[in-house]
Amino acid sequence: MKILVTGGAGYIGSHTVVELYNSGHEAVIIDNFSNSTEIALQGLKKILKKDIPFYEKDCLDIESIREVFEQHKIDGVIHYAALKAVGESKERPLDYYENNILGLINILRLMDEYNVNNLIFSSSACVYGVPEELPVTEETSRADTESPYGNTKKISEDIISDVAKVSNLKAVMLRYFNPIGAHPSGLIGELPMGKPNNLVPYITQSAAGIRGPLTIFGNNFDTPDGYQVRDFIHIMDLAGAHVKALDYLEKQETGFSNIFNLGTGKGVSVMELINAFQKVSDGSLEYTIGEPRMGDIDKIWADATKAEKILGWKAELTLEDALRDAWNWQLELQKQQVDK
Ligand code: UD1
Repeated sequence: MKILVTGGAGYIGSHTVVELYNSGHEAVIIDNFSNSTEIALQGLKKILKKDIPFYEKDCLDIESIREVFEQHKIDGVIHYAALKAVGESKERPLDYYENNILGLINILRLMDEYNVNNLIFSSSACVYGVPEELPVTEETSRADTESPYGNTKKISEDIISDVAKVSNLKAVMLRYFNPIGAHPSGLIGELPMGKPNNLVPYITQSAAGIRGPLTIFGNNFDTPDGYQVRDFIHIMDLAGAHVKALDYLEKQETGFSNIFNLGTGKGVSVMELINAFQKVSDGSLEYTIGEPRMGDIDKIWADATKAEKILGWKAELTLEDALRDAWNWQLELQKQQVDK
């Protein structure tokens, strides 16, 4: 299939493009570079040994995106393009609602207009808020997410399932837990603009001397070691799930949507992750303990058995694999800068 990947220069998008080509699909990327750069596209070219069609476009500009639907016979869309910083979303709620909701609506309108039925949407574990049970299954109630960002994911899920009820749309919504790591080549990886909000890019940049010591956001939570617990999943495992979701979509009748958790099924504490990182790196990461971050939850991990049963997908790579690959990516980036 030829898949339009919105946000394809971003962290999850770029790794998914690799997996699409590895499975015999093709991709067309659009991205507005709001939180990504050309580096991802250069990395993709080196990994795949070909140019991937790319358009610098914004999903808010429906006329401009229409040109892509005119130029390519698109079979499906993987919609990643969205703003994703929780803290920022509280300061700029309208930007988040506009980008994440209107961007999705524009894509859905164009899919309808061009008779493109297959959609994969990137949702988030944040829709569970403070989870009412652990591990969380897809049946666990969604809760107050405490942020406009989280609300946009909940609203987007509702829009997609409502549209699927009355149209030819076939949609899979994937609730990501905490994607980490990088492609094993070190040619693509997570590269947020400015100071990273997320744990692993902060760790790798700190260990590389680009940032100061990591501040751990609290160590007195209701968890076995007192540190917060998350379900960290290797980005290549996560990317692979999108290919399985496409295979699954192909077999469905139109007017259909379904939701899957994408996690490993295992909770890992922030300190366990740090210890694992020290082992796979030069052990130089420094950290201090700070105050809890507003809006963070103590613990969450996935029950990912639905994806295993229905999509035939499960996470295979380890925490160490992910951290080794994240570190390797950081070192490759530094090398590239030295080479310049
Ligand atoms: C965050 C978002 C989530 C979003 C996801 C992907 C929040 C509350 N949640 O998840 O909605 O889908 O990113 O963008 O922001 N940590 C530190 N020090 C740091 C950074 C993180 O101790 O400098 C801790 C956090 O407290 C948390 C864990 O590391 O316990 C993971 O944090 P992070 O990578 O930001 O992911 P989430 O907060 O789980």
